[in-house]
Amino acid sequence: MNNLAKFTIGIFLTLGIAWLAFVVGAREQYGDLVPSPQVLDEDGSIPADADLFPVDLTGMAKQGAEEYASLGCVTCHTQQVRRVETGFDVERGWGMRPSVPRDYVLQDHVLLGNSRIGPDLANLGLREYSDEWLHQHLFEPQSIIPSSLCPPSPYLYQEIDEPVPSDIEITGADGDDVRNVRPSIRANRLVSYLQSLKQDYELPEVAFVEQPADKEIATQEIKDTTAIVSSSVPDWLQQQMDAGKEVYMKAAAGGGMCFTCHQPNGEGMAGQFPPLAGSDWVLGDKERLIKISMYGLMGEIEVNGVKYNNVMAPPGIPPGSLTDDQIANVLTYIRNVWGNSASAVSAEEVAAVRASLEGRAPMQMFTAAELTPAE
Ligand code: HEC
Ligand code: HEC
Repeated sequence: MNNLAKFTIGIFLTLGIAWLAFVVGAREQYGDLVPSPQVLDEDGSIPADADLFPVDLTGMAKQGAEEYASLGCVTCHTQQVRRVETGFDVERGWGMRPSVPRDYVLQDHVLLGNSRIGPDLANLGLREYSDEWLHQHLFEPQSIIPSSLCPPSPYLYQEIDEPVPSDIEITGADGDDVRNVRPSIRANRLVSYLQSLKQDYELPEVAFVEQPADKEIATQEIKDTTAIVSSSVPDWLQQQMDAGKEVYMKAAAGGGMCFTCHQPNGEGMAGQFPPLAGSDWVLGDKERLIKISMYGLMGEIEVNGVKYNNVMAPPGIPPGSLTDDQIANVLTYIRNVWGNSASAVSAEEVAAVRASLEGRAPMQMFTAAELTPAE
């Protein structure tokens, strides 16, 4: 009998804790949230004539959300701008501020997603793509970005020989081979939904993140439907990454030859060269990264839970010769390819670290112990 009592209490505790976590906890975080004005009155009340955000989607866009879910777009696209401390999303142009739970209160199915094979879409509607561009992208992303991994959805369109103005002209990336397609109602719903994705309002719990003028997200001018661009990366970042990739891949003076050890795909080689893709060293503290890019690294280190004990001579040809710009670019590159996403590194940041290390012997490699602050 004694055991039955324990057993019963055990069952109730198990169910009770689960209920607290999944029902009460979730409700605490989310359940009572309602649309709100951008700012509250001083006494915390809602101003009489305020507009409330988020606004509800139109019927067409709501149906589009169902299409989005049923076509599996959520497997590769998130709709959540990460907090400033954990991500680089705002700087990269994916939003004007981090997303908060209140942004989603009016959605029947919240399509947050958890994997970013493609760019975050929480603010796609602010990127000023025309409907035609979105249709062409939906029909065949590869006609705009030849190497795109985004799957084409030709079954949402009908190819047309004698187009009317509302049909969509598909031009190949090389300009020839023009086709005309007519969007189905499903395609129109989806585009209406995509255009409606905007978190362009502030809320009492979150304000826009201030951005230096030259890194303005705003909206990039991509109205030319044939331009071969991916808007997910702003120009300044793309340039830095291109320059950084060159350093990464170059095995001659001015290069870092990083690929010879860490591999072109950043995976490294088991037991010898640690990976850069997903590495907490790469995504973490910039100062540490800058230091090892100047002076190298030796001794035991741990990358993503795996131990390595090897030597990285000061990168560069000749060793230790990378300039502030080259280091800034290559680090920005490795922090933002292969699924990595972390803030860019500027030449000024590198120069400041260099200045702080004045007097260090040129080839004196760092050890992990030296770089880990004493507890
Ligand atoms: C296999 C992963 C994958 C799936 C599934 C996927 N996408 Fe993509 N998507 C990508 C990648 C990668 C890119 C970046 C390259 C490009 O712009 O084509 C992208 C880009 C986009 C862009 C352009 C975004 C921008 O800011 O330039 C849109 C719009 C888009 N996808 C919509 C969709 C929709 C709608 C669906 C569902 C029908 C979908 N995607 C399904 C991988 C995917
Ligand atoms: C000759 C091979 C070699 C070259 C070239 C090289 N590395 Fe390394 N790298 C290593 C080794 C080996 C380690 C681990 C050192 C240890 O065990 O202490 C390492 C560690 C690292 C780490 C910290 C651990 C991690 O995986 O995140 C980073 C970051 C890094 N290297 C970046 C670079 C960059 C950027 C370049 C080019 C500028 C570069 N490396 C060039 C061999 C190399």
